[in-house]
Amino acid sequence: MKSVYLLPLLLVLVQGNSETEKEWWETTIFYQIYPRSFMDSDGDGIGDLNGITSKLEYLKEIGVGATWLSPMFSSPMYDFGYDIADFYDVHHEYGTMEDFERLIAKANELDIKIILDLVPNHGSNESEWFDKALQGDEKYYDYFVWEDGVVDENGDMQPPNNWLSVFRKSAWEYREEVGKYYLHQFVIGQPDFNYRNPDVVEEMKNVIRFWFDKGVAGFRIDAIAHLFEVDKEDFGGKYPDEPISGNNLDDPLNYGYLNHIYTTDQQETYDMVYQWRDVYEEYKAKDDFSRVMMVEIYASPQKTMKYFGEGDRIGAHMPFNFALISDVNGESTAAEIKYAVDKFLTFKPLDKLANWVTGNHDNNRVASRYSPKIVDGMNMLVLLLPGVAVTYMGEEIGMVDGYVSWEDTVDPSGCNTDDPINYWQASRDPERTPFQWSSEKNAGFSTADKTWLPVAEGYENLNVEVQRDVERSHLNVYKALAQLRSEPAFRYGRYESVALNGDVFAFRRWYNGENYVILVNFRDESYTIDLSYFENVNGELEVVLTSIQSPKNNGDMLNASAVEIVGSESFVVKVKA
Ligand code: GLC
Ligand code: MG
Ligand code: CA
Repeated sequence: MKSVYLLPLLLVLVQGNSETEKEWWETTIFYQIYPRSFMDSDGDGIGDLNGITSKLEYLKEIGVGATWLSPMFSSPMYDFGYDIADFYDVHHEYGTMEDFERLIAKANELDIKIILDLVPNHGSNESEWFDKALQGDEKYYDYFVWEDGVVDENGDMQPPNNWLSVFRKSAWEYREEVGKYYLHQFVIGQPDFNYRNPDVVEEMKNVIRFWFDKGVAGFRIDAIAHLFEVDKEDFGGKYPDEPISGNNLDDPLNYGYLNHIYTTDQQETYDMVYQWRDVYEEYKAKDDFSRVMMVEIYASPQKTMKYFGEGDRIGAHMPFNFALISDVNGESTAAEIKYAVDKFLTFKPLDKLANWVTGNHDNNRVASRYSPKIVDGMNMLVLLLPGVAVTYMGEEIGMVDGYVSWEDTVDPSGCNTDDPINYWQASRDPERTPFQWSSEKNAGFSTADKTWLPVAEGYENLNVEVQRDVERSHLNVYKALAQLRSEPAFRYGRYESVALNGDVFAFRRWYNGENYVILVNFRDESYTIDLSYFENVNGELEVVLTSIQSPKNNGDMLNASAVEIVGSESFVVKVKA
């Protein structure tokens, strides 16, 4: 008798996906804007907030509901805004606080959520806080991580230990004013904050509150793994050397040369994320609105999942899933793609969502890392796999990495190689070139004579305006995908996948009798494929969406046991019940 009553409850629990439970961030598409490169409103060759505001309708047009802006805070731009001088103000090249308020107002009108980039690990060496520290103001001195140098056999002062910057060379910089070295895990202009100081902890919580009060719907949290270093008191009062990793043996100044056991992934870091979530919950308790927390983490799946929470502590909504960036590329087999796709899904807690990311301002573009032919296929993965979709601006039109000469290179990661030949391997400028709006001057990005980075070659044919007018374009495929994504099968449905052969990856999404299969051919070979491998996939299949290379048309009927797929083709079929 009892079990009869329990059954419906159990079904809801097992399904865990009931249609009413979804929050805005679980179903929307997040679109990352790199403000410097999106749209320049005042002709100085640098993108700005008014530029973004003027293009918010474009986000609406492509079906995006939320945008994460890379840092737009006041900054000397040694790391293009990731070196923040004033966490409570807008960078002058990007506009004013009033411009930001107008951006929020316009976004609200269009029902687009604005997410900001929180950069908690470091500030700027050209900030009021750092100046005060150098002047001996105790409060601000303790905001940063200081250490004595060591005197070598020649009597010269050397950095405290072997720690390296992510961007190469020592992570320590000497300041005469205080006779000590400060830690910078990134560029010299990015002094690490001292999270063992409760004032720093409170300050960063206030930064979160400040922007929540301005109406932002959450944060993407930067470089989280680097937040805490070990407590030097546990090592006799001196930060210990990190062990040699065995990698990058030809370049001991390369970050990869060391194993970063003392400067990354400390237990206290996870706890800080849970504390930030408490601030989020304070706000939610007031207005019942869920603000979202995304964290930037390149780590093992085990470490990545800890950001969701541990025990009774809750953390981020979305630790980024970088498997499609870090684990696979255009050379990967379909099996390797499947392995990468399944990774996050395998490790994530049952009640959490996966997320799909193929690009950002730190990694080469999809068209360049995979192939221009796979752009639609990768967007099919991002938008149709189960979970949250994140698109880096330009991936919807298949932008390619721009060529940036050594002379024009400005990214510290490129410049710090000191290598005019191989710098491009480390430089992030290629994926940051201006957004391609049209065939006009500077791709319609700016009227300036010189833009901060050159516009990528080929923009005359690869841009929004051109693709809007072509029926089969990446842009139109993207828009159709955004639509399809709102079907229940993609919103609530289950997932299974298979590498059909070395080249073709396929996955199925189904819910309440609706049943879709998505196929992506990663290579130039043609195949005839038997899709009845999948349960409940037989008989007639209707083509509902195709990549631009596809010879198929929407509405074409295919036979499940013999599906033709041509080289580099991707498409979505719906099983006819
Ligand atoms: C993150 C950002 C990157 C920046 C670094 C330091 O990895 O995405 O662009 O350089 O943190 O803030
Ligand atoms: Mg401008
Ligand atoms: Ca740190």
